[in-house]
Parts: sequence; C-alpha cells; structure tokens
Amino acid sequence: MPQEAFMARQEQDLAARIPAVLRRRKDLGLEGLVHGLDSVIISTEPGRLEPSVEELLRYTGLFAEAYFEDETCTTVVLGIKNSASFLIRAGKTGKSPFIAVNSAEKTKNLPNTRLETFVFRTTGLDRFVEIQAGQGVRFMTPEITEYPHFRFIQTIPSRYTGNSLGFIEWKGYKGDYAPQDARSHPLSLKKPALPHLASIHHLDHAATRVKALDRNDAIIEFMELTGYSFDFAVFVRSLNSITSVARLSKDDYAMVFTSGIEPFREDTDPGPTEMFIRNYGTRVHHMAFQTDHIEDTYDALRNDGMEFLVELVGSEDEGLKQTFSLPSPHTMIVNEYIHRYKGFDGFFTKNNVEMLTRATGKQ
Ligand SMILES: [Fe+2]
Repeated sequence: MPQEAFMARQEQDLAARIPAVLRRRKDLGLEGLVHGLDSVIISTEPGRLEPSVEELLRYTGLFAEAYFEDETCTTVVLGIKNSASFLIRAGKTGKSPFIAVNSAEKTKNLPNTRLETFVFRTTGLDRFVEIQAGQGVRFMTPEITEYPHFRFIQTIPSRYTGNSLGFIEWKGYKGDYAPQDARSHPLSLKKPALPHLASIHHLDHAATRVKALDRNDAIIEFMELTGYSFDFAVFVRSLNSITSVARLSKDDYAMVFTSGIEPFREDTDPGPTEMFIRNYGTRVHHMAFQTDHIEDTYDALRNDGMEFLVELVGSEDEGLKQTFSLPSPHTMIVNEYIHRYKGFDGFFTKNNVEMLTRATGKQ
C-alpha cells in the first residue's frame, strides 16, 4: 500500500473513533475522575540508580526531594515547581512486569530500564477502577494499594506502547510517596551549583514511540483511560514519521506519540521512528523540559559536558527553539530542551521537524 493510502486510512480511522471514545467516557461516568499528570516512574538497573539521578540533577532543573527504600525497591523523588514529579527507582526482587517490553536488540542489556509509568491524579479512584475493570482494563494489582498519603493502582503494560498508566488519589500530604514501611535515606545526592539550571523548568511533554499500525490504538487507549483528547498530528512523509499530540488543556503536560506512517519493511528505509522501535522497542524516546534563555542554557549544558543529537534549532519568529541531547547511558532517555515564544503551542516548526526527526536516527 503506498504511503498516501496509509496516511488516509490512519486519519479516517482515528477521526471515526474519537467521538465514540468521548461519548463512552461521558456515558460511563468517567468525566472528571482523571486529571493532570502527577508523576512519572523511571526504573533503572540496581547499580544505576544513583548515576541516573545525578545526571538528572546535573542536566535539568529538578531537585532531589526524598530518598527511601522498602523491601521491593529504592526510590529517589525529584521535583520542581509546576511539574510532574519524577520517581527514579531500582527494584530489589522479583521479575519486572516490563521485562517483555524491554527486550529489544539494544535494550536487552538494561532489561529493567524504562520510563515505565505515567501517573495521573484522580478523584473517585474506587469508581474509576470499578468502571475501567468493567470495560476489561487490567491492573497490576487486584485492589487499589493504600499508602500513608495516597492510594494507587496501575495498569499492566500497554500492548501498544509498553507503558503503564498509574492513577493516584492523594489523601494526605501531597508529594510524600513513601510507603508505610519505608526507611528514609539522607539526600546525599547534591544538586550542582550551576546557575543555568535555574532556566530549566517543568516537564512539558514526553514522546513515546509506537509502531505505525498501533498508533491509533495507542491514542484511543490513552483517551479511554484519561481525560485527554487527541489534538493534532504532524506527518513527515520523507522520514515515514507521524507525531501525534494528546492534550488535557493547553497548559497541561502533553502526551506525544511518534509512529511510522507505513510499518517496518526490510526492503525500504523504514525511517528513524520504525528503526528506533526495531532497536529499542516501543518506549519513551524523550522527555521535554521547558527552558528559558535557551541559547545560553544550551551553551552552558554543552560546556558542562552534555552532548547533543542536534544543535539548537528554530527561532523566535517561528515560535520555537529546541534541541535533543544524546540518550542517557543510564536511562536511555533523550532530554529535549524547548522554549516556546509567545505561547506557541506546537512541538516543532515546519522547517525543523525533518531535521529533528532525522537527528534521532543517529541513536
Ligand atoms: Fe518533543
């Protein structure tokens, strides 16, 4: 099937399915139960927890907020104002439920490493779980788990993205993620005193790479489980890539899905998106941080040793400046630094989308 036909079919299929999801959310009584992004859970190999945290402290604006462990895992909580929190975690026992989705060619040496879970704030968690379980959604635990300050449940990894969605209902001190029997550690991991880090702010969006044929299912599944809606998609035909954006509101964290237009084929260049999935599996490719004074910040990050897949691209006139770091050797995740001018709400400019997509093929 030629690319044009794939594009047309994708768009028609998605457009036809969206109104039904919105209606079902309403009819089932899900409206208003799931809110914005609370946190992300990033799992590392046991020996790589501290280097993963050190890297985030050194190359983002995040601060260490807590460090604790229980029988199952050790967790460092990172945060910054107006942002989802980051729970960086290394497991101690048992087989991770994500092993199957972490076993691609270039990831099998780091089988526990992944941005595993996007956690959303909820109200009426009991009702939410009852409705979703009735719709066939499968959770990792049969019941909601109770913690001193919140209640929590998460789905099994999605067959389309490999990611889990978590749902948290705060009942006590917001931001205290420690379990009942947790032992607290002193915050020995210090944030470097680098002035440019004050220009790097909240998590703006994260982009998950999914297979061409799973793109619509991934978006629909995400909409069924959250209050998000599909917003728009940008097609890069020359590189066989689509970037699709789901939003809650223009001020909330955005969920981005990147996929091929046509599925992977051995006999043609599949483009960087399908090739990435071949090498790394379906997973989060990058986390984007809102960045002020982006020229100076980019220079300072480079002077501090950070390496990039692409130079700083875009301009104030076009509404956006952005760049991608090399993937972290510890988490395999790329950092995007992004500055929007005058409320520009796109994810790249027309002139740069091809260059940025191509740059990710260097991984
Ligand atoms: Fe991005």
